[in-house]
This record gives sequence, structure tokens and C-alpha cells, in this order.
Amino acid sequence: MQPCSIVLIPGDGIGPEVTTATQRILAAAGTNIEWIPHQAGLAALAAGDDVMPTSTLEAIAQHGLALKGPCTTPVGKGFSSVNVQLRKRLNLYAAVRPVRSLPGVHTRYENVDLVIIRENTEGLYSGVENEVTPGVVMSMKVASESSCTRIARWAFRYATHRQRRKITVLHKANIMKLTDGLFIRCAQDIHNKEYPNIDYQELIIDAGCMRLVQDPSKFDMLLLENLYGDVVSDLCAGLIGGLGVVPGANIGDEHAVFEAVHGSAPDIAGKNIANPLALLMSAVMMLNYIADQRGDADAGAIATRIRTAYDQALADQCKTGDLGGDLGTDAFATAVIERLPA
Ligand code: NAI
Repeated sequence: MQPCSIVLIPGDGIGPEVTTATQRILAAAGTNIEWIPHQAGLAALAAGDDVMPTSTLEAIAQHGLALKGPCTTPVGKGFSSVNVQLRKRLNLYAAVRPVRSLPGVHTRYENVDLVIIRENTEGLYSGVENEVTPGVVMSMKVASESSCTRIARWAFRYATHRQRRKITVLHKANIMKLTDGLFIRCAQDIHNKEYPNIDYQELIIDAGCMRLVQDPSKFDMLLLENLYGDVVSDLCAGLIGGLGVVPGANIGDEHAVFEAVHGSAPDIAGKNIANPLALLMSAVMMLNYIADQRGDADAGAIATRIRTAYDQALADQCKTGDLGGDLGTDAFATAVIERLPA
């Protein structure tokens, strides 16, 4: 693998535990990565910095890539989300979240294979709120034609590149006629004019969620605005074993930040029981991204070896507690390392 430098943000809660485990596996697999450590979130505040330090953003802009642990956001008060700031300020407009059934992880469903594409910069999730008058508050949902078109085109391009067969947009354009109406109109335009060969479907999100839990095999790729993408990601995680096994990437035209879908899990932090797999899978996505973007075939080969190793570990019933196993974070990482193909 060609040498590359990647910003590492350990994050809060279980973040440092799962990033350390992931780094161990990547090193054992023969990656050639110089980690550039930076802070964000509570860890940055504790170090006397801003919650989203400019130096961290500048480092990601300089190196182009980051692997990020989760960052805590206070509920109902306090600072605005580090994750929202990061995605907006670096224009990481496409969140990609593959959700697939794993060997040895038994759930109600078999053969789930979904990819969620979430618009990452607009919508209600931006948290643009104000108090109209005491006792009356409002939240602003923003959708722009350029951003809706951009994410739709990104999703269809991804579908073509990865040989996916169908994109389903989940929306609520029956109620939010302007904002969600714009979102589906832009998706329709891109489908009709640029990618008519990919199947396209629209579902109102409430009925879409029902159909997802009835039979996820009816779906292939999901395209959603920001807040719906957030919620439906966790729903889909529940189809395949939970938040410990769903990776993610936040991708823009110039930079990409790879992170698990899960949060900082304060309930299990510091106990060496968190599942590092979601972050490890995010790192595998990062290696495949390096292979695609930089033409580094070795990075892609290492990604395949790591995936083979964790699939084998799960098939051998080496699992953390969230999946019904009894291994700790470090012991699971060791089990993966032991199964790396030569
Ligand atoms: P969460 O994802 O942290 O936890 C939800 C449940 O899943 C908890 O019971 C937790 O123990 C479990 N869980 C999550 N990841 C796990 C793992 N790797 N292994 C085993 N179990 C795992 O969601 P929650 O509790 O809603 O949020 C906690 C904090 O994380 C909040 O401050 C929230 O804002 C933040 N957050 C940050 C994200 C990010 O940085 N990208 C994403 C989601 C939430």
C-alpha cells in the first residue's frame, strides 16, 4: 500500500476504545498509514479547545481523509453537534451506510443487503431553531435544489458504479410539499434524464418503514434527506444485529470522514465491551475509497483481507456482548487479527 496520512479523531465515550482496536487491526493487516491525531467533541473541550477545533478541520482538509470515533452531543441544551458542524463545514454531503447480514449473527432476517444514502448538510437536522415568542419555538427545514440534485446524482452514480439495481426515496412530500417535494422532484429528474436504467421508487416514509421491517429484501438502496436518513439508519441497523455492525462514510468532493453510525454509547464507555466492528468496517470502506480514488490496488486488497477476517471471526462465534458473545473489545480485535489471511 502506498504511504498515506489520515487524521484520527478518537472521539468521546467508547470512541477511544473502538479506534484503538481498529488501529491495531489495520496495522496487523499491513496498512501503511501515518495517523495524525486530532480532537473533537468533549475531548477537545477538556483540552481547552473549541468543541470543533479549527485545527482539526484544517488537518482533514490538508490530508483529505479522517477516521472518526463518535462525539457526544448534549440533549436539549449545550453546544450544537460536532458531527453536524464537521459535515457542513467540510461539505461532506453524502453519508453512505451499507447494511448487510453478517455470518454467524442471527436476526429475524437473512440476506439483508441495503445501502443508505443520506443527504448530510440540509433539512431539519441542521438544527436551525428559534423562539418566535416565549412558549413558541420553531425549527427550520431547508432544502435547496442544488443540494437535492447533488445527492441524487451522487446516489445514482454510486448505484451504477456498484452495480446496485434500485433506488427507493423515502419522503413525506404529502405533508412537506415544498421541501420533500423538491427532494423527490430532483431525484426524479436525475433518474429520468441521467440514469433511466436504474429502477426508481418513491415511498412515503411511514409506510416505507413498515415495509422495511416486513421484508427488507424488497429494498436495495435508500435515498433520504438528512433527518429521515438518521432515523432509518438505526432502524436498518436493528435488522442485522444493531449499531455495533453498521459502518458509515461522510463523503464530499474533496474530503471524506469515515465513522460508525453509532454514537458515543456512554452507558458502556470505559468497560472494554463495545463492539469495534462498526468502526473497523468504516475503516474498510476507507481503504476501498483509497483504492478507488488513488488507484492503490493494495489498499483494496487489504480491505478484502480484513473483511474476510472479521466475517470468519463472526462465523466462529467470536462476538462482543451486543451480538450475544462474551468477548471484550480488545479480545475481539485479537480474534480478527488471528484470522487475517496470509
Ligand atoms: P448510541 O449509538 O451511542 O447508543 C445507543 C445504544 O447502542 C446504547 O445502548 C449503546 O450501548 C449501544 N451501542 C452503540 N454502539 C455500540 C457498540 N459499538 N457496541 C455495543 N453497543 C453499542 O446512541 P445514543 O445513546 O442515542 O447517543 C449517545 C451519544 O452519542 C449522544 O451524545 C449522541 O449525540 C452521540 N452520537 C454521536 C454520533 C456520532 O458521533 N456520529 C452518532 C450518534 C449519536
